[in-house]
Amino acid sequence: MGDEGSTEPFVAPEPAEALARLGMPMDEAMRTQRAVRRLHLEPVSHEVLLPLLELSLKAPTSSNTQDWMYLVVEDPAQKAELAKLYRRLYRLFNPIVQRQAEKAGDEAQLRGMRPGQWQAEHFEELPVFVIPCYTRNLKHSPVGRPQIKVASFYGSVFPAVQNLLLGCRAVGLGASLQTLPIWNVPRARRILGLPRSINPVCVIPIGWAKGNYGPTTRRPIGEVVHLDRYGNQPFLER
Ligand SMILES: Cc1cc2nc3c(=O)[nH]c(=O)nc-3n(C[C@H](O)[C@H](O)[C@H](O)COP(=O)(O)O)c2cc1C
Repeated sequence: MGDEGSTEPFVAPEPAEALARLGMPMDEAMRTQRAVRRLHLEPVSHEVLLPLLELSLKAPTSSNTQDWMYLVVEDPAQKAELAKLYRRLYRLFNPIVQRQAEKAGDEAQLRGMRPGQWQAEHFEELPVFVIPCYTRNLKHSPVGRPQIKVASFYGSVFPAVQNLLLGCRAVGLGASLQTLPIWNVPRARRILGLPRSINPVCVIPIGWAKGNYGPTTRRPIGEVVHLDRYGNQPFLER
């Protein structure tokens, strides 16, 4: 896992061996989970994927509705359709971001963009896409007012998504949360055969990790925490 640059043929771990890695200390999993975009192209066994999906659903949902659904996409034709949809947008905006970074001489950003470029170019070859979906109803909706309906809708999906990302990290799978590949939701719905009442929320391409895990860099805690009221930041380092 995480052997970026290796030329050795990849051999996936046995499912039991991979699942035993779920005993990884929680802080290690949380510190090192990150968007791993370079993946080995070998298939991911259902014996590994299904337990991870099941564990991820220990997450909360608004009013405990559990109106979620996972679409697991492995069919090459379906993956090719999704790749086509993604690249229509990707080819529009990636050159703009790249030109800006080149103009600014931002080498770090240019380096950081490469795994995403690799992923976009190989999108249909990635082993499996997990597409978390949720059913809209009177209380939970991805659009409209009041805002709490929208929060309840997306808030019923992303806790499970994060559980899945952490599970993938622990067993040695690479995964990343992506919303852009389904930027055109009606089109994505048609590709996936979803009824109008069910919204796809994001796409999580998954495969055995070729790219590296973290530790990730995030803003310092003192900068993020406000105590009792906005602006009171006693944990800020002076
Ligand atoms: C709501 C949301 C949407 C995202 N959409 C995309 C996406 O469309 N494409 C992509 O490459 N990454 C996407 N990401 C991944 C973020 O870019 C990534 O998590 C962030 O840059 C931190 O990366 P790291 O965890 O590797 O440090 C998304 C993340 C979130 C939380």
